[in-house]
Amino acid sequence: MRTRKIKLMNLTSLARVSSLSTAFASRTLHRSITCRPISCSSVSHAPTSLKPKPPLFLRPLTFTATLSDLQKWQNWAKTLASSVGSSFTDLDNGPDSENLHRELNWLIEDALENPKSLLTLDDSKRDTVLQLRADLDELYSLWKQRIEKRKPFQYIVGCEHWRDLVLSVEEGVLIPRPETELIIDLVDDAIKQNQELKEGLWADLGTGSGAIAIGIGRILGDFGRVIATDLSPIAVQVASFNVNRYNLQDKISVKQGSWFDPLMEFEGRVAGIVSNPPYIPSGHIRGLQAEVGRHEPILALDGGEDGMSDLLHLCNGAALMLKPGGFFAFETNGEDQCLFLVDHMKTVHHNSFYNLKIIPDFAGIKRFVTGIRS
Ligand SMILES: C[S@@+](CC[C@H](N)C(=O)[O-])C[C@H]1O[C@@H](n2cnc3c(N)ncnc32)[C@H](O)[C@@H]1O
Repeated sequence: MRTRKIKLMNLTSLARVSSLSTAFASRTLHRSITCRPISCSSVSHAPTSLKPKPPLFLRPLTFTATLSDLQKWQNWAKTLASSVGSSFTDLDNGPDSENLHRELNWLIEDALENPKSLLTLDDSKRDTVLQLRADLDELYSLWKQRIEKRKPFQYIVGCEHWRDLVLSVEEGVLIPRPETELIIDLVDDAIKQNQELKEGLWADLGTGSGAIAIGIGRILGDFGRVIATDLSPIAVQVASFNVNRYNLQDKISVKQGSWFDPLMEFEGRVAGIVSNPPYIPSGHIRGLQAEVGRHEPILALDGGEDGMSDLLHLCNGAALMLKPGGFFAFETNGEDQCLFLVDHMKTVHHNSFYNLKIIPDFAGIKRFVTGIRS
């Protein structure tokens, strides 16, 4: 399936307005270290009560509709998409009509057995019956939610294309972003420089859909494995679903719990820690694009007053959990957070890490902090 480029705000569009003054940041740093012990009790495996819905394109062709009814739906959906014009873009940099028309074509691709039939069958075939993965009422409802509720397209079709993966997503789980794809390349580079890391234990903390864990699982050697953690029970279910879909259940364990809690038995023995934690300052959540602010989980977005709370907790935990030579990579919302983290690592954990680097994303924004445990 080809990659879809969907207009969804990255989580850092506000990064450039968020400047961390040193005095303010060090107050928050103190709060972060003192209030958040690395270890506490609650860890559990994937709860069994929540069942993720398979993405639309994987559902069976259980439904039918005539060509004429489908064309009526398509015309209605196109009119709705056209009515948006540039109003969402003007409001909050949301999608315009052109983006929405493209998404409508993708929805048709995912929902129909033979999407080309909508274009190729002429009026004389209007009674032809076509097979569908959702019934027509659901298609009306889905498109209404896309336009009127600004529900992200990925939640409408239940999946996101990320690297060479197609990952199941649903409301309650962050839609993985393109900028995060680079973490897998950073891990790949680290492994090329130290082959031992390939056989070790890796941790993806705050795994969401399981994107990073799956990406790493696929590049590890025969003995390497990954523990993916998340506090959200929905994320744990969706990540487990995606791990199984890629047949990586023997390599990746998904555990529910806060950050390092599910890993405490591996203190000082972890080969690699990666995370894309919540890092948006609380005060910026209100200004997010409607698709993000209204629909994506606040647990995945809100990084506390200055966006740094979880990042600092992760840095402190990395000092404790990584083995000598172990690698970490954390995603941030931009340059200020990167600089702050590096400074924190050098001053609070001096001599604990070396090779500390700030790495830009594809757009040139300083995005990741990486380093190696001494
Ligand atoms: C920005 S999202 C990243 C999701 C995924 N790793 C990705 O890159 O698409 C942050 C994730 O951290 C999880 N999270 C928030 N607080 C957490 C905590 N205390 N412990 C573990 N995970 C947490 C959220 O549920 C969310 O899935």
